[in-house]
Amino acid sequence: MEQMLDLLEVVAAEGLWIGSEAPIDRAVKREGFQQAIDSDDDEVFIAAPGGVVVGFISLWKRHGVVDLGMLVGPEWRGQGVGRRLLEEGIGWAKQRGAHKMALQVWPHNAAAIALYHRYGFHREGHLRRHWRRRNGELWDSLLMGLQLEEGDRRGHLG
Ligand SMILES: CC(C)(COP(=O)(O)OP(=O)(O)OC[C@H]1O[C@@H](n2cnc3c(N)ncnc32)[C@H](O)[C@@H]1OP(=O)(O)O)[C@@H](O)C(=O)NCCC(=O)NCCS
Repeated sequence: MEQMLDLLEVVAAEGLWIGSEAPIDRAVKREGFQQAIDSDDDEVFIAAPGGVVVGFISLWKRHGVVDLGMLVGPEWRGQGVGRRLLEEGIGWAKQRGAHKMALQVWPHNAAAIALYHRYGFHREGHLRRHWRRRNGELWDSLLMGLQLEEGDRRGHLG
């Protein structure tokens, strides 16, 4: 758990890729991770070669939709860790009977967007000036989704 928090702190401190910003509130994050581990509707998968946590994916199932967040430590990127974590996450969502996966990503996060596209996620929306950063800036985010179940769509505008 402490290694996960350390990794979250490192990626948050990069200030570019994830919603969390440094310094993170370790007590709040620890509780969130613990809840995810304890709950049947949530899950966390960790990549820990040799016992060192280098990445993780968090999953939350609500109303049949699994939301995800993930990260890999800076020195471990580009080596297939993200792919393996996402495959675990998609497998978990399917096994739980979810009909869809969803996430938000900053529009400038080309690596993450490419990873999600590679696994069949499509862009479903664009939130403009939506997220207030600690420096006061307002950032856009993209909504991406992966359909896990075929079928007709209702409620769309055409
Ligand atoms: C996004 C992230 C999770 C990808 O993990 P990773 O371990 O580096 O990714 P992988 O090595 O498994 O690469 C998987 C795919 O992602 C894409 N990708 C990864 N790095 C990329 C880069 N720098 N540029 C473009 N595409 C990239 C490619 O499609 C790649 O597939 P390929 O190897 O067949 O080309 C990782 O870069 C990361 O943690 N970034 C910081 C945190 C973050 O952005 N989290 C997601 C927030 S929405």
